[in-house]
Amino acid sequence: MSVVSINPDVMGESRRVCIAGTGSYAPERVMTNADFEKIVDTSDEWIVTRTGIRERHMARDDETTSDMAAEAARRALAAAGIGPEEVQMIVVATITPDMPFPNTGCLVQDKIGARGAFCFDVEAACSGFVYALELGRQYVSSGALDTVLVIGAEKMSSMTDWTDRSTCVLFGDGAGAAVLRPCRRGRGLMTSVMGSDGSLAELLMVPGGGSRNPTSHETVDKGLHYLKMEGREVFKYAVNNMTAAAREALEKSGLSLEDVACVIPHQANVRIIQAIAQRLHAPIEKFFINVDRYGNTSGASVGIAMDEAVRGGRVKAGDVVMLLVFGGGFTWGCSLLEWGKRS
Ligand SMILES: CC(C)(COP(=O)(O)OP(=O)(O)OC[C@H]1O[C@@H](n2cnc3c(N)ncnc32)[C@H](O)[C@@H]1OP(=O)(O)O)[C@@H](O)C(=O)NCCC(=O)NCCS
Repeated sequence: MSVVSINPDVMGESRRVCIAGTGSYAPERVMTNADFEKIVDTSDEWIVTRTGIRERHMARDDETTSDMAAEAARRALAAAGIGPEEVQMIVVATITPDMPFPNTGCLVQDKIGARGAFCFDVEAACSGFVYALELGRQYVSSGALDTVLVIGAEKMSSMTDWTDRSTCVLFGDGAGAAVLRPCRRGRGLMTSVMGSDGSLAELLMVPGGGSRNPTSHETVDKGLHYLKMEGREVFKYAVNNMTAAAREALEKSGLSLEDVACVIPHQANVRIIQAIAQRLHAPIEKFFINVDRYGNTSGASVGIAMDEAVRGGRVKAGDVVMLLVFGGGFTWGCSLLEWGKRS
């Protein structure tokens, strides 16, 4: 049992918050576009030109979202040099929890042995990682907590309609994690801009399994537990809202895109990323892209990409990094941070 006391005496203080370590995990099994050619009427050429995706990782049947989240968390804690017993809060961003409840954060807590943490999930679809990061930042910034573990994890294959060629080729499984701590040096997490528009909820959703359409033989027969998407509409809103969020975050922080060393966008479709780069008049090289190897891993995507960017040397100490997301809800957001200068 764990109880974390949030110290009210220090609430209101503002501390700078850094990402002390990142980690990610992708299942071993890889599905290529050629594999999809065998199950639906599609082609490698269509998928690559329309999405940029070449392959994606798929969890084993017995591998859950919390399994993947726990592995990403272990790697992030190792990178930060922090033991699980030091973690005070675990927040998991996911739309594919192991089950409706208990929350995935609690299951991760048990798997990694973070007995001193309180745990919950955040659901903001593909924007979830940035929403969870901002939530964690608030706790550390206020002085209420010192160590927060933020994870984005998804088993998208668990809600994929394998007969729908317009969606099944797009998604993948995996997890990304970050450890938040007060900064010793550098600016850390700076500005966040977030927005939502629930009037567009029906454009991207899983209609079944909740209180509107509780699970029944009928909901299963109608395929209501699969992800449904109006791809073209989602594409349009993603480009518009991500571009606007990036501009607003830069304006709020008094920075220009030239000050940003690396933009890490949600990895849904390379054409969305190219359209945003064009609108922001930024070279595409400024954008970190790994959608070709992962597909869209929803709430995990930015966490995985950030970990790859850091471990691959694409993001270095002192770099300003932009995280840029969009997802079901609709939800969107942009965070600017300075990558930690280790003291
Ligand atoms: C899904 C997406 C790739 C489709 O690309 P598109 O260029 O918009 O393609 P369309 O949906 O207009 O479909 C064009 C044609 O390709 C067909 N098509 C769809 N999926 C296909 C596939 N996997 N293989 C071959 N053809 C396919 C369609 O049936 C359609 O055929 P038609 O013209 O005969 O009706 C694109 O809309 C997209 O990426 N949207 C955003 C998705 C996203 O990012 N979602 C998550 C946000 S968090």
